[in-house]
Parts: sequence; C-alpha cells; structure tokens
Amino acid sequence: MTQVDDLQSKFGDEPIGEIAARLPGATAIFRKLKLNYCCGGAISLGAALKKRGLELAAVERQLAALTPQESEIPESSGEIIDHLISRYHDTHRRELPELIQLARRVERVHAGNPEAPAGLADFLIRMDTALGTHMQQEELILFPMIRAGDPMVSVPISAMVVEHLDHGDSLEALATLTHDMSRLRTPAEHGGRFTPACANFPTT
Ligand SMILES: [Fe+2]
Repeated sequence: MTQVDDLQSKFGDEPIGEIAARLPGATAIFRKLKLNYCCGGAISLGAALKKRGLELAAVERQLAALTPQESEIPESSGEIIDHLISRYHDTHRRELPELIQLARRVERVHAGNPEAPAGLADFLIRMDTALGTHMQQEELILFPMIRAGDPMVSVPISAMVVEHLDHGDSLEALATLTHDMSRLRTPAEHGGRFTPACANFPTT
C-alpha cells in the first residue's frame, strides 16, 4: 500500500468535522459537496457521502491530495477560547454589519432581477442578532466556566449545541435564498428578459 493509499483509507470512517478541522482545504471540498461539516460534523465521511448518494473513493482521493499542514489552532482550552473569540467572534462582529449593508444594496439595485435574493438583508439581520446573543452567552457564561474547570459546564454546552444546530438550519436557508451563494446572472444571460435598476452596479 502506498503512502497516499494509506492516507486515503483513513478518511471514510473519520467524522467529517474532524477532517475539516485538521486538514486545510477540506472545507472547500465539503462545501462543494454540500456536506455539513460544522454542526453535522459528528457523522463519518463515509456515512455522510452515502446519505447523499456520492462515491467515497473519489472524495478520499481529493482529500489525500491536500497537503497536511501544521495546525495553527492551539491546544490548551484557554488558548482555544482566545483563538475562537479573536478568529471567529470578533470577525463576525466586524464583518456581518458590512455584509448586511451590501445585501441591502444588492436587493435594491437588482430588484428587477428575478434571481435577486429578496429578503436577504433582513434574514442576515436576524442571523446577526441570534449570533450576537449566542456569542455573548459563550463569552459571559460558557467560556469562563471552561476556564475555571466548572463541573456544571455541561449545562451551557447543551444549550449552545442546540443553538449551533439552529444556526446550521439558518445557513442552509441562506444557501437556498442565495442559490448556493452563486452570483446573479446578468440580463444578457437571462436572454435580456429584464432590465437592471442600475447598469453601473456590478452583478455580484
Ligand atoms: Fe457557539
């Protein structure tokens, strides 16, 4: 068995969330295949692909071709929490308001496009509100309990997991609303059947 064969043979039984976390580039492959590697990440890659009727060997070959790299994620709980806050919470707080502004603009400018994501900005506002509350609870309750080694930590974890699943549902609804986050087709690509409100604004 070659080294690549040996590497490939390990993926099928491994939870997709773990593959996503340890192998840079894996999430791009999973996204294309519409595999939920986040909240649905506990399922093995083999089982996840079987559910979608996809062939395991081809995906394993793609994963084996990725070059494993040293993880940048630290190992201690305290360092992981610091990493989560700076890499994810702060990024969401910084980027989501801008994204909402952009969504509002796209909806207004492309109102004549039948594929425009009507209601996207309001949807993102609801996600932003839910995410803000969730992150605040993690920072004020869950993370301090983890840092302190509090034995009651399973209580907030259970609540947070439920919210993670709800957020996973929101991400799926977001994908539907945005046609899998694809760019809008231009009037020409629609056969000229509609006129955009503003010809200067780039199709996103
Ligand atoms: Fe969370």
